[in-house]
Amino acid sequence: MPALVLLGAQWGDEGKGKATDLLGGSVDYVVRYQGGNNAGHTVVVGDQKYALHLLPSGILSPGCIPVIGNGVVIDPAVLLSELSGLNERGIDTSKLLISGNAHLITPYHQTIDKVTERFLGKRKIGTTGRGIGPAYADKINRVGIRVQDLFDESILRQKVDAALADKNQVLVKLFNRRAISADQVVEEYLGYAEQIKDYVADTTLLLNQALEQDKVVLLEGGQGTLLDVDHGTYPFVTSSNPTAGGACTGSGIGPTKITRVIGILKAYTTRVGAGPFPTELLDEDGEALRRIGGERGVTTGRDRRCGWFDAVIARYATRVNGLTDFFLTKLDVLTGWEQIPVCVAYEIDGERVEELPYSQTDFHHAKPVYEYLPGWSEDISKAQTFADLPKNAQAYVKALEEMSGAPISAIGVGPGRTETIEINSFL
Ligand code: GDP
Ligand code: IMO
Ligand code: MG
Repeated sequence: MPALVLLGAQWGDEGKGKATDLLGGSVDYVVRYQGGNNAGHTVVVGDQKYALHLLPSGILSPGCIPVIGNGVVIDPAVLLSELSGLNERGIDTSKLLISGNAHLITPYHQTIDKVTERFLGKRKIGTTGRGIGPAYADKINRVGIRVQDLFDESILRQKVDAALADKNQVLVKLFNRRAISADQVVEEYLGYAEQIKDYVADTTLLLNQALEQDKVVLLEGGQGTLLDVDHGTYPFVTSSNPTAGGACTGSGIGPTKITRVIGILKAYTTRVGAGPFPTELLDEDGEALRRIGGERGVTTGRDRRCGWFDAVIARYATRVNGLTDFFLTKLDVLTGWEQIPVCVAYEIDGERVEELPYSQTDFHHAKPVYEYLPGWSEDISKAQTFADLPKNAQAYVKALEEMSGAPISAIGVGPGRTETIEINSFL
């Protein structure tokens, strides 16, 4: 049976949590494959609201096995507090599996994340401050600490010592901060070992065996395509690969097993943190989208920057991820505008450009070319089928589909599980 990928098609916060939760009832495994607790996935089930950061959204579906893949960076303190928070609310988390090859975020990664941002001043990325970038940097530099290291005290000690040798020099001499004690880190992390031990598994082997046994595996991305370290708006990106290729490396599932790649696409655009954003609105419309859409970060509480839909970005997401479908979210938020601008191309230095420019300079100069689609004023939050939508809302969806290059197979008309119009089945 197939593996499916579900990922963000824009700059994150497209509604991946809701979409994953919706599919969670029909799949056997939900796997996070990259990122860490920089993610904030909101899931609304009935009158209950959950904010997940590190755990896959499938943890809320009783029949589903949640997996934290090798490509994720794990802050063990956050992991344990998220687990106990769910347990207190009656959610069974005992089926969770964690890859022994996943890397750990340590207190020194968080410190370095924060001081680096401060040092960058006006050029800062606006990171979530969770230590994500420094943890991935250590992984690539081959001085990272992995989950499996927690179970061998002498190796853990050697690795923490090695990782801190140069970092403490930098912290003290360059950033004027106190050195971090390797002993303290080791002591704290050995304390997590016992609590995490039972979850740790060879997740790559288990997932591939599951696929052989006709189980369905859903790979859930964090962040989004434009935040990808290779394909996003570098350097204003996260330090991992949310795009479809990352789902393979971050889980150990080969590309030939993936049959569906679903891009989650907001009916307008948002972004948190610094970096270019051609359709950003700094006016009343932007304020209205923020207010109606509740566009405030789940992880850091920062207001999200808001703007109109950008079809150039959607087309790009189709291309770099090989998307087979879109799940369009938050269509309900656009109710009430007389007409809705949609960016169909950019103007860069006087020229019309249809594709996302690869040059950072060009992208910074890109000005949106808008087409204006007629809006609707009817409440659409109870719509259950495409035909229930007002004609202008239907036309808006069809226009987006045409511009974006993949079929829109589901539409979100509210935050709840049932507030979804399913057009084509994902399974
Ligand atoms: P994620 O990071 O991609 O999982 O997205 P977030 O959870 O950070 O942000 C999406 C927000 O939109 C959450 O508050 C969701 O509950 C909410 N949401 C998701 N889909 C819809 C929808 O179709 N309509 C409305 N009104 N809200 C939605
Ligand atoms: P979800 O999964 C939106 C942004 C940060 C910053 C940049 C780098 O909820 O969609 P990092 O801490 O990752 O080094 O920050 O990436 N960012 C997100 N923006 N949604 C997210 O996750 C994000 N995770 C990171 O704001 O600009
Ligand atoms: Mg989010």
